[in-house]
Order: sequence, then structure tokens, then C-alpha cells
Amino acid sequence: NSQGCIELLGQKYATDEWTNVTPKIIEKLDRKLHITKNHPLSHVRQIIANHFYKSYTNRGNNPLFSIYDNLSPIVTTKQNFDSLLVPPDHPSRKKTDCYYVNRDMLLRAHTTAHQVELISMGLDNFLVIGDVYRRDEIDSTHYPVFHQVDGVRLCTGDEVFQNVKGSGKLNIFEHRGVEGTDKQGCHTLEAVKVMEYDLKQVLVSLAQALFGQSVKYRWVDEYFPFTHPSWELEVFFNGKWIEVLGCGIIRQEILQRAGISDRIGWAFGLGLERLAMCLYSIPDIRLFWSLDSGFLNQFITDDPHKKITYKPVSIYPQCSNDISFWLPQDSAYCSNDFYDLVRDIGGDTVEQIQLVDEFVHPKTKKVSHCYRIIYRHMERVLTQDEVNDIHKKIEKASKDLLHVVIR
Ligand code: PHE
Repeated sequence: NSQGCIELLGQKYATDEWTNVTPKIIEKLDRKLHITKNHPLSHVRQIIANHFYKSYTNRGNNPLFSIYDNLSPIVTTKQNFDSLLVPPDHPSRKKTDCYYVNRDMLLRAHTTAHQVELISMGLDNFLVIGDVYRRDEIDSTHYPVFHQVDGVRLCTGDEVFQNVKGSGKLNIFEHRGVEGTDKQGCHTLEAVKVMEYDLKQVLVSLAQALFGQSVKYRWVDEYFPFTHPSWELEVFFNGKWIEVLGCGIIRQEILQRAGISDRIGWAFGLGLERLAMCLYSIPDIRLFWSLDSGFLNQFITDDPHKKITYKPVSIYPQCSNDISFWLPQDSAYCSNDFYDLVRDIGGDTVEQIQLVDEFVHPKTKKVSHCYRIIYRHMERVLTQDEVNDIHKKIEKASKDLLHVVIR
């Protein structure tokens, strides 16, 4: 791996000690589920796009927002982090959390990675939609590849106050202002409040378009390095509060660096999978990657607003197998390395991995982990032999690659 090179989407990249993209992840780079005709993620994308087309139009009644849904997921650390003021030591940059191509490039961890380049191109209103990549745990709601929509709107002072009566003399910037919980130092409170109102009303009406007019929702204060103030929208669905999106007022330093000095902006980002799972009652996130007609055919429609409820074709039995090992004492080990290894070998036959026991030997201080791996194929019954075979390969690879000692 190190000192070599890898090919991604037809381009060669040098590898180094940061490289941790895996073959299973690389396979996903060209799937483009969000723009696959009749795919559930594509329907949700279309509903969101329609909402913004309709909400913001120019004098000629044409949509103000332009949509970028085909940008390459291979980005620089500058795009993904630095341009968004993510500090050099921020935990989200860790090798254990991202898929790095090499020290300088990674598979984008959020679609916000394209914000600055699009603003620098002169765009004021846009959506970015695409696949994003994060190393994470394995269960029915987490998958290392998922899809996000980001939105940005920049306004001049005239645009901010155009619908506010008698606001002729109001400014969006103030000098010697101080940052507080409600605003950045450089902004006037009145500009922030009008932008906040615009942002929140368009996102609440989006939630209503998705979940119904009577959806119960709440705003929660949040923190992002690239916005201030920041909020999260949660909706009450099936007896639980679920996070739908993050948003806020764009840090003015980001706009300044992009050459914009006369505008204030808002931004938001949301994940498509969780929304689609709620809307269509899809029980497992792996199903989005299914090529099985039993899944895909249920979503064939020319009307993305049509109500569809997924009906499981049949439920195949789960099969669980435990693995216990001593962690290496002289090299770094992290659970995400093990999860990637299990995915590489088991692929989507692995439904879930739970760390069921962690134990420190009182004398030797050696650490032992026990994981329960739950196997279930989505489209057919797995035989015990098949599962045993995969499990043995996982044991062997863990020994060879992660230097653990199987108990
Ligand atoms: N990028 C953030 C995330 O992935 C979402 C976000 C986008 C928040 C834009 C604020 C503004 O969680």
C-alpha cells in the first residue's frame, strides 16, 4: 500500500501511510445512487430539489437555486476541512474516522466540502448532493457510505431587508461588534435574525413537505466550525426525536476568503438515508445498495411525491458468531479497523457488529475485546457453513493484519 498508487474513478493517486480506503469502499465510488432513476434516494433528492426550486424564484419565476449532484467525491483536506475553518487537530480529521486516499486527499466526509469552491465561482444560491464517506460502527442505520444534501444562500443587505418595511437604513455588518451566542462579531443582530427566519422557515416547510403538514419539530442549538450561530432540526417520528439536519449562519471569514465582502449567508446539510428510511419504512440501510429487483421494483414511479411503503420480500434468519481476541500491545488498534476488515471480508452479509465485552487482564494489563458479529443476507438464506467460512477468514485476517491474538 505505502509508496504505491491506487486508481479511483479512472485516476491514479499516490498512496502513503495515510491511505486507508478499502476495496469495498472503492466499489461504491461510481454507484451514484442519488441520481439513479427510480432509486428511493433519488426520489428524496427530487422532493428536496423541487422544494427549493419552488421556494426561491427570480422575477421571471425561474428557480434561483442551481444544483450540483455530480461532483467528484475525491476532495482535498483543504476542501473538506481547512476551507471550512475546521482546526488542524479537530477529531473529525482522524484517520480512524475518514477514508483517506493519501495525506492530502480523502473521500469527502460531507458535501459541505464543495461550499467554498462554488461560492468562489460566484454562486449565491445552490444545493450540492452526493455520496459521503465516514468510518463508523456497523448496524441497521450506519453504513460507511451515505448521501447528503447541502444548501447555501448568500444575500446582500438589500436582499436581506427587502421584505422588511421601513428597513431602509439597516446594515448587515457592524464594526467593533463582539461575538455572542446569538451572532458573529461582524454581523448586525437584525441581519442575523432575518437570515435565521428565512433559513428556519424554508427548512421547516421542507420537513412538512417530507413528513406531512402536522409534523412535530423542534430546534436545538448546535455547534459547527463553519457556521455561527448553528442549529439542528429534529422531528418527532414513530415515538422518537430524530435529527434531520444541521444549519447556521456561515462564518464570515469563509466568505471573506472566497472574495465575498458584501453578503451574509446561511448553510445547511442533511442526510438522505435517514429521511428515506422514515418515509418508505425501509428497515435496514444496506438495502439502498441492493441490486435485487424485489427491492428496486417497489420504487418505480415517475412521481417522487407518491407515497410508497416498502414491504420486506421475506425475512431471512440471522446467524450470530462471536470473536474474542487480545489486542496487540505494541501497535495501535481501533475498533473501526476491525469493522472495515469485517466489511472487506463479509461484505453486506454482515448486518451488525457489537462490542459485547471488553476486559483488562489484572496482571498482564492486556486488553481483550469480544465482538458479536450478526450475519444475515438480505436476499437469501445463509447456510451455517457459509457463515463459518466467512468467520474463519475474519479470524485469520484479524491475526495477520491487526496482529491480535485470538482467544
Ligand atoms: N456538514 C455538516 C454535517 O455533515 C452539516 C452542516 C452543513 C451544518 C452546513 C451546517 C452547515 O453534519
